[in-house]
Amino acid sequence: GPARIVVIGSTMMDMISYMPRIPDTGETLIGDRFALGFGGKGANQAVMAGRLGADVWMVACLGTDVFGDMTIDNFHTAGIDTTYVTRTSSASSGVAPIWVEAGGDNRIVCVSGANAHLTSSQAIRAVESIPRVDVVVGQFEVPQDVTAAGFRAAKERGALTVLNPAPAAEISADLLSVTDWLMPNEVEFESLAGSAPTDAAIAELARRFGVNVVATLGEAGAAVLDGSGSVVRIAPPTTTAVDTTGAGDAFVGAFSYGLAAGLPPAAAARLGCACATSSVARAGTQSSFPQAAELEAALSWATA
Ligand code: RIB
Ligand code: NA
Repeated sequence: GPARIVVIGSTMMDMISYMPRIPDTGETLIGDRFALGFGGKGANQAVMAGRLGADVWMVACLGTDVFGDMTIDNFHTAGIDTTYVTRTSSASSGVAPIWVEAGGDNRIVCVSGANAHLTSSQAIRAVESIPRVDVVVGQFEVPQDVTAAGFRAAKERGALTVLNPAPAAEISADLLSVTDWLMPNEVEFESLAGSAPTDAAIAELARRFGVNVVATLGEAGAAVLDGSGSVVRIAPPTTTAVDTTGAGDAFVGAFSYGLAAGLPPAAAARLGCACATSSVARAGTQSSFPQAAELEAALSWATA
């Protein structure tokens, strides 16, 4: 049957302003364009995995506000199961004001709100109740102990766990002990390893943390280290960047799909590169992720 993936993670309403440049302190600048979009690293990764054909369950917490209603509708449109999505009246749904400069670079402020109210029992119940789970995915926009509880339940059931340590923070020993795959970007890698992602630094981090590693490297693609001990570097297809927001999530969602579908890790990472590359060529977050023919092209590029 199809790959089965549980995402324990965040949802955010992305409030994206496009501007010629970032304003200085005290300066008011006229922007070019505004868009409201569905985001949050967890939700983005869930949507990408779902587009590739996985059965996806989201474990998340929303506010009882209009953004929460819209987010549930968006999950249903994307075919994502929301049985394990809860609502709280004690916080707003998560929001992310995002500034995108000409050239596609971004600055993001995540206001967690309801995401901070996700509970360990909710994560455990989801992972234990869903018949057969292949891969459980987590990030750092919900509390680490919740992700660790869900990952522990996943390991007990024989599922693989994928941790995207984003945005950058220290990882608890408890969470690391139940993580199979660690997927930092360059900034997160440097903050965890104290150096750039050279082959030696990747091998050292994998050894020290007891994990497999996929380092995502922006335009330079990715580096994959699995149990075999050697680092494989993947150069992505070339493109012109319009908006890099969410590219890392497209990568993590596609890689997780690949693992769940039984692809070798390097092929799963190639799929991640291809999906991330298509997403940077378009504005927005989930709205920029590949669909239909582009997904087919990404799958065949990845497995060629
Ligand atoms: O990784 C991109 C995401 O980070 C955005 O969708 C925003 O919501 C923030 O969570
Ligand atoms: Na994009």
